Amino acid sequence: MYFIANWKMYGDLKSLNSLSKVIKFSNKHKKKRFKLIYCPPYTLLESFSKKIAKTKIELGAQNCHFEISSGPFTGSISPSMLKKIGSKYVIIGHSENRSNGETDNQINKKIKSSIKCGLKIIFCIGETITQKKKKITNKILRNQILKGLYKTNNLNKILIAYEPVWSIGTGVVPKTSELDKNISFIKNVLNNNFKNKSPKVLYGGSVNPKNAKNLASIKNIDGFLIGGASQKAKNFIDIVKKTII
Ligand code: 13P
Repeated sequence: MYFIANWKMYGDLKSLNSLSKVIKFSNKHKKKRFKLIYCPPYTLLESFSKKIAKTKIELGAQNCHFEISSGPFTGSISPSMLKKIGSKYVIIGHSENRSNGETDNQINKKIKSSIKCGLKIIFCIGETITQKKKKITNKILRNQILKGLYKTNNLNKILIAYEPVWSIGTGVVPKTSELDKNISFIKNVLNNNFKNKSPKVLYGGSVNPKNAKNLASIKNIDGFLIGGASQKAKNFIDIVKKTII
């Protein structure tokens, strides 16, 4: 199981205290089979990278530019910069960026550059509430997958994070039957189009210590991408405990 903390635009150096608690927890459960990945804002990548150096916790970033190494792109960070600072993962295609104008084509370019650079991808997909009401969720998910992953063959490097937009930050999670169905659909699309026998699909959207156990009862789920609840060490640890310990 993957537990990925997406801190979004939150956190400062004081947040390293929260990380210390999670490091302690991780060290205590070294032999258990789960992965903890932190995706703090860019400003904290270096300090997080140093702090987790001798632990099992891994580092990810929240976005990148599609230019692989450098260029005249004010305010942007390249995949190779992320790699050099110790990131192993990068989140791409988050709905908070899609809603700011990020296109499938840009997402595809970012994914390809990041893979070339040796990063693993946390590729976010998900339907809006309007699309859900129109009953076009499958069409949307399929489209996002095929366009985002166009001509990428190496699915071993990609984790899909299914995040229904209407679940993000709202406290509302899909019914387990709906989630099970959508995750199976995503896995089928991946299996049918990419010759990948065991794609990993995570769920994200209002995961918290109270609903984690129920959500994790869905066999198809390979982990969680957690926003708000990942910022407090106790909540993050409780989600892991409720799910697998
Ligand atoms: P919340 O867990 O705060 O709903 O955020 C989910 C998310 O967007 C993770 O990428």
